[in-house]
Amino acid sequence: MVQASPKVARLLIDDKEIDLPVISGSGGPDVIDVGGLTRHGYFTYDPGFVSTASCDSELTYIDGDAGVLLHRGYPIEQLAERSDFLELCYLLLNGDLPCAAKREQFVNNIRRHTMVHEKLKALIQGYRRDAHPMAILCGVVAALSAFYHDSLDIDDAQHRLRTAHRLIAKMPTLAAMSYKYARGEPFIYPRNDLGYAENFLHMMFANPCEEHHVNPVIAQAMDRIFLLHADHEQNASTSTVRMAGSTGANPFSCIAAGIAALWGPSHGGANEAVLNMLAEIGHEKHIDKYVAKAKNKDDPFRLMGFGHRVYKSYDPRAKVMQQSCHEVLNALGVDSDPTLRMAQRLEQIALEDSYFVEKRLYPNVDFYSGIILKAIGIPVEMFTVIFAVGRTPGWIAHWNEMIGGNYRLGRPRQLYRGPTRRDYLPVDRR
Ligand code: CMC
Repeated sequence: MVQASPKVARLLIDDKEIDLPVISGSGGPDVIDVGGLTRHGYFTYDPGFVSTASCDSELTYIDGDAGVLLHRGYPIEQLAERSDFLELCYLLLNGDLPCAAKREQFVNNIRRHTMVHEKLKALIQGYRRDAHPMAILCGVVAALSAFYHDSLDIDDAQHRLRTAHRLIAKMPTLAAMSYKYARGEPFIYPRNDLGYAENFLHMMFANPCEEHHVNPVIAQAMDRIFLLHADHEQNASTSTVRMAGSTGANPFSCIAAGIAALWGPSHGGANEAVLNMLAEIGHEKHIDKYVAKAKNKDDPFRLMGFGHRVYKSYDPRAKVMQQSCHEVLNALGVDSDPTLRMAQRLEQIALEDSYFVEKRLYPNVDFYSGIILKAIGIPVEMFTVIFAVGRTPGWIAHWNEMIGGNYRLGRPRQLYRGPTRRDYLPVDRR
């Protein structure tokens, strides 16, 4: 719970003094409540929301300078080592870790919601054969709103929770369907006897003609990838979900908005962009040339998988992912993969280069996730889809927290720089 502290921030504009309340949370910088500024005839100006806390939340805490990430207070490193994705979903949604009985009930609940309506097949089949799976995922998740609309009361906490369970359960099914469609292979139904990540990999790689067994090393790596992506406070896609949700819109369409925001290469699209970049670099001998391009102000090229808006030290998820990456590559016997060698060399060069050191640009989670996903045989165009499956509990937990609390319509203002009032001229006088 936030509480008003006795502190105030005093703003002096010309000779006018404006007192603004300062609010402390349970961690992170205090915030200045600027909500009352409009009464004095001012807006705040913060493009990219670099210094703006858009809401209060109890889900996730990040200290970007210290490289700390906590979900409901638990460090990501402990969760990655000792928990699993579904338990983290429960934690994000409910606030505490489940006891054994609650855990089992939750897992069963998710298992029982994995199927999607048969009509969604027809929707997917309407896409171009070469459609990007993110385009398909965005469309079909929005389409879920048509199946759950009249029956869904967003003001009912039980309805909201059921929506969260449905989404977490159906995302892997829809993600795998988007892949199967592009391959021209039949859709594989979910199997409720398999674990969450295992079931996803089964739906991706099985076919109706033969038995398919998922390698447990790969299933565990996939579960960890989902877990490491589960939530990241008010990032671009989560803020998009909240913004759409603040209008009272159907939650499935709000999540579709989040998926659209995730797709871009500055956000979730970076894992795909990392692999494309490594393919473009092609060989270790070209790395220096590409590092020079990334440092050149006149060149739009950036090192994908490096830098973060919040982390100005090592992204703690990247550390766990890096360790996971080595374990998986060893277990699969592909540790001499040339792409991986190139990635390691690139990381080493960038970590020592003064440009990256001074700007505090470290490898982020997408740098390593791309490499692991490649090693376990996931096609590059599915990388961001996998990020979306992992981020679903975060999106829906933020939506739930917002709708269940005190929220207002999200409606930012602007600094207007367009023409001032002018009169319309008939076409012959322009
Ligand atoms: N390569 C080269 N230079 C960079 C990079 C990079 N990857 N990232 C930032 N810079 C430079 C940038 O040019 C700027 O320099 P200057 O101060 O001289 O103008 C400075 O560092 C600050 O960058 P910024 O763009 O103002 O910082 P931002 O907080 O707006 O951007 C970012 C953060 C993640 C968009 C950016 O670092 C980037 O484009 N990285 C590559 C894409 C990427 O890996 N994205 C995944 C982010 S983590 C997962 C997720 O959130 O989904």
